[in-house]
Amino acid sequence: MGLLEKQLCLVSLVLFVTLFSATINVTSASVKEANALITWKATLQSTNHSLLTSWILPPHDNISTSASPCSWFGVTCNFDGSVNRLNLTNSSLNGMLDNFTFSSFPNLAYIDLSMNNLFGVIPSLIGSLSKLIYLDLSINQFSGNIPPQIGLLTNLDTLHMVENQLNGPIPQEIC
Ligand SMILES: *[C@@H]1O[C@H](CO)[C@@H](O)[C@H](O)[C@H]1NC(C)=O
Ligand SMILES: *[C@@H]1O[C@H](CO)[C@@H](O)[C@H](O)[C@H]1NC(C)=O
Ligand SMILES: *[C@@H]1O[C@H](CO)[C@@H](O)[C@H](O)[C@H]1NC(C)=O
Ligand SMILES: *[C@@H]1O[C@H](CO)[C@@H](O)[C@H](O)[C@H]1NC(C)=O
Ligand SMILES: *[C@@H]1O[C@H](CO)[C@@H](O)[C@H](O)[C@H]1NC(C)=O
Repeated sequence: MGLLEKQLCLVSLVLFVTLFSATINVTSASVKEANALITWKATLQSTNHSLLTSWILPPHDNISTSASPCSWFGVTCNFDGSVNRLNLTNSSLNGMLDNFTFSSFPNLAYIDLSMNNLFGVIPSLIGSLSKLIYLDLSINQFSGNIPPQIGLLTNLDTLHMVENQLNGPIPQEIC
């Protein structure tokens, strides 16, 4: 092989590896996560002026089979392309967490939804986020009780809930 052929061969190998890894990064986990985020976004009110314009599925993709949310605003993924951080602090979000499918996010470790207008109860299904380390729901309009299921989050080391309309006792499970 001449030098040029060798270089061409190397270039196509690099291209192949790059394309291949780009493809495997869109895992079925990330597709599930993308659809779950889109479903939740659809329940938010006045997303018009919000920062969530990057939260879109590819065109003509109703329930997406190829989307990855990893480059979306406020979303960070781990090396395997699965969402591990959701940071939507101060993002003018107006809505509830009722239709946020926590069970679709097996690797979610950091959630920062502080300083929005989120209201309603904190769903007990939040207890299914087994990897959760950090949860900040402060400065919103959440009401009702703090769900005892938060006590199931054995990795949780930071919990911020100030400035909401929560009532009832702090569940002893948290302690
Ligand atoms: C959540 O989803 C259910 C069923 O699709 C729907 O009836 C309800 O209005 C949704 N809740 C919110 C807050 O959008
Ligand atoms: C939403 O955005 C469109 C175009 O940017 C604008 O014409 C419309 O008034 C906005 N709606 C609301 C409720 O702000
Ligand atoms: C999504 O798919 C369903 C079922 O195939 C269809 O009824 C619906 O109109 C589609 N929605 C959009 C926005 O394409
Ligand atoms: C979220 O983003 C804000 C502003 O960029 C930053 O100050 C905060 O530390 C972040 N929170 C988390 C949990 O990453
Ligand atoms: C929240 O966002 C608004 C508008 O983007 C900005 O003016 C304000 O400084 C932010 N507040 C904090 C505490 O980051």
